[in-house]
Amino acid sequence: MSTELFDVGRLSETWTRRHLLDVESLSAEEITTILDSAVAFKDATSNCAQKLPILSGRTCANLFFEPSTRTRTSFSLAARRLGADTIDFSSSGSSLSKGETFIDTAKNIEAMGIDVVIVRHRTPGTAHLLAQKLNCSVINAGDGPHEHPTQGLLDILSIRERLGRVAGLTVALVGDIAHSRTARSNIWGLKALGAHVIVCGPSTLVSKRWEELGVEVAYDLDEILPRCDVLNLLRIQFERQSTRPFPSVREYALLYAMNRERLSRAKPDILILAPGPINRGVEITPDVADGAHSAILEQVTNGLAVRMAVLWLILGGNS
Ligand code: CP
Repeated sequence: MSTELFDVGRLSETWTRRHLLDVESLSAEEITTILDSAVAFKDATSNCAQKLPILSGRTCANLFFEPSTRTRTSFSLAARRLGADTIDFSSSGSSLSKGETFIDTAKNIEAMGIDVVIVRHRTPGTAHLLAQKLNCSVINAGDGPHEHPTQGLLDILSIRERLGRVAGLTVALVGDIAHSRTARSNIWGLKALGAHVIVCGPSTLVSKRWEELGVEVAYDLDEILPRCDVLNLLRIQFERQSTRPFPSVREYALLYAMNRERLSRAKPDILILAPGPINRGVEITPDVADGAHSAILEQVTNGLAVRMAVLWLILGGNS
């Protein structure tokens, strides 16, 4: 057994969970186990490029009721890199249009011999509901604005990888906090690991009540910028809003977009993250998105590693 695989096996010894439904309920030790396992998988698979068939005979089902590029693809690829079979379910073209309920759909997919369901749905709590209704494992791939645990974990892994630590860092989540499941998963994970978290954006998208989660609330990006080690730039989710939260996209970009001028006033080693999809020119300018401070594509690779780790821990880690 290679050193990296031995590490993965050792890391999984303390893992007891059958599901990954949120980051809120994870301990700092569990978060660290996932991150360390992801690093071991990166090392053992040449940066997630090679196969390591330790989940052969297992089957993973993607149940996506909302659009996705990164999450769905990387869960599928992570499962296949580990030798598992995968099926992809899309609500469009399914028998949901004939009146089948969401739960019946999930139970019918499970009856085909599924070991884990990876679910994305616009309704908060969907993954928790499926965990009660199904016998197989459930992973939350985003439930409305509630949580997106693997996104939060891959963001934190990207921070740890680039800056060498999480504890003691100041991390600002900037943008549409109100509708962001990524913000919530980041907040729980970053706080558990000892970071100081700031949520920043227009007052229509950042309530003062976020302070109740133990984070700092800010409305002026230029005021907090010199203190930040990391900026995580969140997309404005117009599709979840019935009214426009600010007068114009141009005004939002003037106040909150990360651009070359703001970069010149930030810490020299500031790290720029964005969960994607990014809107170039809205929350980030193209030169910053593609520049040396940005870890946007590293986040995608780390997503593959985190999802390998989560699948392994949930399906095989403690056996
Ligand atoms: N970041 C993220 O969840 O991307 P997708 O919506 O493309 O999966």
